[in-house]
Amino acid sequence: MRVITQQTLGGPEVLTVVDAPEPQPLPTEVLVRVKAIGLNPLEARLRAGEFPLIGKPPFVLGWDISGVVEQAQTWRFRPGDEVFGMPLFPRMASAYAEAVVSPALHLVRKPASLSHVEASALPVVGLTAWQGLVDLGEVKEDDRVLVHGGGGGVGHVAIQIAKALGAHVITTAGASKREFVEGCGADEVIDYTAVDFAESVRDVDLVLDTIGGDTAERSLGVLRPGGHLVTAVAEEDAALAARYAAAGLRFSGIGVEPDPVALRGLVDLVEQGRLRVHVQETFPFERVADAHRLLDGGHLRGKLVLTL
Ligand SMILES: NC(=O)c1ccc[n+]([C@@H]2O[C@H](COP(=O)([O-])OP(=O)(O)OC[C@H]3O[C@@H](n4cnc5c(N)ncnc54)[C@H](OP(=O)(O)O)[C@@H]3O)[C@@H](O)[C@H]2O)c1
Repeated sequence: MRVITQQTLGGPEVLTVVDAPEPQPLPTEVLVRVKAIGLNPLEARLRAGEFPLIGKPPFVLGWDISGVVEQAQTWRFRPGDEVFGMPLFPRMASAYAEAVVSPALHLVRKPASLSHVEASALPVVGLTAWQGLVDLGEVKEDDRVLVHGGGGGVGHVAIQIAKALGAHVITTAGASKREFVEGCGADEVIDYTAVDFAESVRDVDLVLDTIGGDTAERSLGVLRPGGHLVTAVAEEDAALAARYAAAGLRFSGIGVEPDPVALRGLVDLVEQGRLRVHVQETFPFERVADAHRLLDGGHLRGKLVLTL
């Protein structure tokens, strides 16, 4: 099979397509013939050596896949089943590949209403938003929720999940993304390049932070007493956590986990027409370097996907 690997850390050009032996599933696992691979900003940082999660190359990046079960060492799936998921995260799944081995429990059936491209775009961002808003955040009807980075992968899905939970959703996004985030259901949009959210938003029950830095810091002032910051970016910042605690606020860092229950929750929302994952652009497998150049640039609208 072909895989995308790298021998050194560096720019997108270090990513190369090579031949490699196919992995073999153990009992409880499946071998998936991959149709589409969702890309995430973390992978660009790992490629460049900016984040020490998986050690030194050579390695094969990637987690988000959609495809067809080819071998099933489990009662959960049969050959021919269409599945998607985010196997093994944060351990290596080596999913930039034509075939991937996954624990059966890290995948769910792909509904017909999602294409392979859409399904591969959903797991990391969908599970992050779900675990942040539903599991950790316990968002309920009429809560005021602020989603930072609403135009991005996590943000645009988070807006839709928060709306489905009945929340009033405020989001920060660049001016060019206003229509997009309104289309996702945002009730209020703050162009962070023109307006200081810390001056214009109040009485928020939950902030979902996908930006970090100054944004996580200044979100402290928009929360109501007892309010909750869930951050996917500043999760290691103990000093910031202490400032939130001192202000009588809750601070939670989230590390996304494989979770078939949450994945099925996301599928239900898709089936009900309440959740759509937006794919900004797809690239053929061998054009991964071009896709990573876009990832490096930031300012994405939804997701990027490799197709096979
Ligand atoms: N902890 C975890 O388990 C976990 C899981 C998933 C993701 N993450 C992290 O969460 C972050 C977001 O991921 P993603 O996939 O959503 O990234 P993304 O698709 O690149 O989205 C980021 C979005 O933020 C917007 N943005 C940039 N600066 C902003 C600011 N100051 N205020 C508001 N919006 C701003 C960008 O576009 P515009 O500037 O054009 O609006 C873009 O739409 C990444 O750092 C990722 O690594 C962590």
